[in-house]
Amino acid sequence: MLILGIETSCDETGVALYDTQQGLLGHKLHSQVAMHAHYGGVVPELASRDHIRQVLPLTHALLGEHGLVFKDLDGLAYTQGPGLAGALLVGASVANGLAWSLNIPAIGIHHLEGHLLSPLLATPAPTFPFIALLVSGGHTQIMQVTRIGEYQLLGETVDDAAGEAFDKTAQLLGLGYPGGPLIAELAQRGRPGHFQLPRPMINNGNLNFSFSGLKTAVLTLVRGKTLSAEDKANVAAEFQAAAIDVLVAKSLSALESTRMQQLVVAGGVGANAHLRQRLDKAAKEKRFQVFYPPLALCTDNGAMIALAGGLRLAAKSTSNPTLQAHPVSHAFTVMPRWDLQALPTI
Ligand code: KG4
Ligand code: ZN
Repeated sequence: MLILGIETSCDETGVALYDTQQGLLGHKLHSQVAMHAHYGGVVPELASRDHIRQVLPLTHALLGEHGLVFKDLDGLAYTQGPGLAGALLVGASVANGLAWSLNIPAIGIHHLEGHLLSPLLATPAPTFPFIALLVSGGHTQIMQVTRIGEYQLLGETVDDAAGEAFDKTAQLLGLGYPGGPLIAELAQRGRPGHFQLPRPMINNGNLNFSFSGLKTAVLTLVRGKTLSAEDKANVAAEFQAAAIDVLVAKSLSALESTRMQQLVVAGGVGANAHLRQRLDKAAKEKRFQVFYPPLALCTDNGAMIALAGGLRLAAKSTSNPTLQAHPVSHAFTVMPRWDLQALPTI
């Protein structure tokens, strides 16, 4: 089955082609980062309008590059939630409109399921079951993934997400948006330990996180001071070390308490090189395997949505061979808030 995946939940328009036999054929992304950078964060109204502008030209370009046309598609997958309501509506309406006109099914995908499954696009890929550390701008969760749709939440942030803490710290240091990659770059020139920041909840015996205290500690450290370039690099290095110490410690506890041997890291913060180095080192020492999505697929993209859609549609068509001939209704809704644990298994 050839699936076109469409991601429009936030500030990236992503489209991808996934073939259930051949794997990912290709993907394209238009980032709105430059447009939102002016405002220091995502402006929902601008995001939706830009998705409208980008989604069809990107799709045409992707199909064209692969010598394909709409009629070659067997299904559509789109991000149905969670995310910005207006932005989600763009992808949902384009996907359902196309699917209706082509008489093929369209499936709504949970954005976090896309992130969780994205390491399946790496080589080697993990096998079920595994522990997933999901670290994005909006979420910080540790999940036990037994099979597609069977996700048990083991722990999550009680306040800010890890990516949000990177973004807010970057803002406090006057670095710009999105902060994660900028903090990571600056941290290379700094020394962790020069300033001291807390490792919130690192030893509290459960798998929950808290990042808002860490952000406040950065605020207290920098408020009212004129920081030299060296100071800023030292703050960035210590902040990154503190956030990553906690992410690594909790991931190791999750592996230990569940006796699982595979860890999957997904979401934008999963692109962080320091996090990857720390986890790779721990994996060697403690003999577990760690999997990351290809670097370009850590942050939001259409490939993870096409993959999740392909896996779900392929499972549906084997359990219901008439699905192809009689696609489901194309009435749709979006889910700006959506519990990952409420998804059906396949
Ligand atoms: O998964 P994602 O693209 O979007 C959400 O679904 O939230 O994640 C975006 C987040 C942002 O907070 C960004 O600052 C962070 O991922 N991020 C990073 C890095 N690259 C992106 N954080 C730390 N280090 C990075 N290299
Ligand atoms: Zn995301």
